[in-house]
Amino acid sequence: MPYAALRSIGAYAPQKILNNEELSAMVDTSDDWITKRTGIKERRIAREDEYTSDMGVEAAKKAIERSGIDKDEIDMIVCATISPDYFCMPSTATIIATKLGLKNPTAFDISAACTGFVYILSIAKAFIESGMKKKVLIVGAEKLSAITDYTDRGTCILFGDGAGAAVVSATDDKSEAIIDIHTGSDGSFADLLMTPNGGSGSAHDSLEQEAASCFMQMKGNETFKVAVRTLTKDVVDILEANGIKGEDIKHFVPHQANYRIIKAVGDALKLSDEQVVLTVHKYGNTSGASIPMAINEIYEDGKLKKGELLLLDAFGGGLTWGSALVPFSPKN
Ligand code: UT7
Repeated sequence: MPYAALRSIGAYAPQKILNNEELSAMVDTSDDWITKRTGIKERRIAREDEYTSDMGVEAAKKAIERSGIDKDEIDMIVCATISPDYFCMPSTATIIATKLGLKNPTAFDISAACTGFVYILSIAKAFIESGMKKKVLIVGAEKLSAITDYTDRGTCILFGDGAGAAVVSATDDKSEAIIDIHTGSDGSFADLLMTPNGGSGSAHDSLEQEAASCFMQMKGNETFKVAVRTLTKDVVDILEANGIKGEDIKHFVPHQANYRIIKAVGDALKLSDEQVVLTVHKYGNTSGASIPMAINEIYEDGKLKKGELLLLDAFGGGLTWGSALVPFSPKN
């Protein structure tokens, strides 16, 4: 049976920065409040003519180049996004594939919100281990500014735009292989975090009502509590299931939603500050893009070396959650 190895990482952040002072001029908030409650100082905002697929393409180009794999050999692309170029169809994955000039790969999007990257990593692993695919490009890309209500201080301070991508390919060497991935969901919490518009479940009396409801809505404090509980349990479970201890983890890469959530989970697991990867201060919450953007950050800072063990942990709308134990296994 072939194993699946994480070969490379890449990311893209749009140029425009929206900082806390600028947000304080838009809604009733302050740099002090946002910093204390979330750890976020600024986030990136895509240009109007810059789509989710464009950001995904930039991240994917880096991931493909760093993988050393010929793009013609990529036989599948999966994109995790809740802010696709177009709702329903075509998928953002097909658009990214075409913009990259890939050769007719299997291509589709998945919707698992902030857990999206862990879900697409598990999909890549499953397809490769079953022998159905050999070289899979996974992309988490979000233009959350397009679905953010900039009059709602409970959400607009949190979210930003960006993309991250990785190449996962088959290997016979077990030491390179993704060790384990756990994923789960509980739809009974659906109303904590949702965009109520656009699907067959939405019914509106007026166009104004419909337009307003295409934005993300969140019960922040309730989400916060479930997030801390779920993220901690998820990590304890995957470590125990694989006989791995917290100190064996080189880089803990949690979904970047809120510094207080990350700190609570890190403390519960007795992880040191050096182990915990943080980007929330500069990018805010980029949903499905947040984990690959964070991995890319340590890669580009020269802190991520071949063979080092990553622990990924994510939580998001659905509700969905997931964790993964992944050695970084570039070919070179
Ligand atoms: O990514 C996937 C999942 N998402 C998350 O995990 C996000 C989870 N939630 C959070 O990060 C936090 O709940 C928030 C940052 C959204 C909110 O922080 P909180 O500590 O849970 O605040 P809260 O909602 O309990 O609100 C406390 C107070 C309220 O005022 P009162 O009722 O005490 O007078 C809010 O109206 O803070 C007020 N508030 C604000 N004040 C200034 C809420 N948002 C703001 C704001 N600026 N932006």
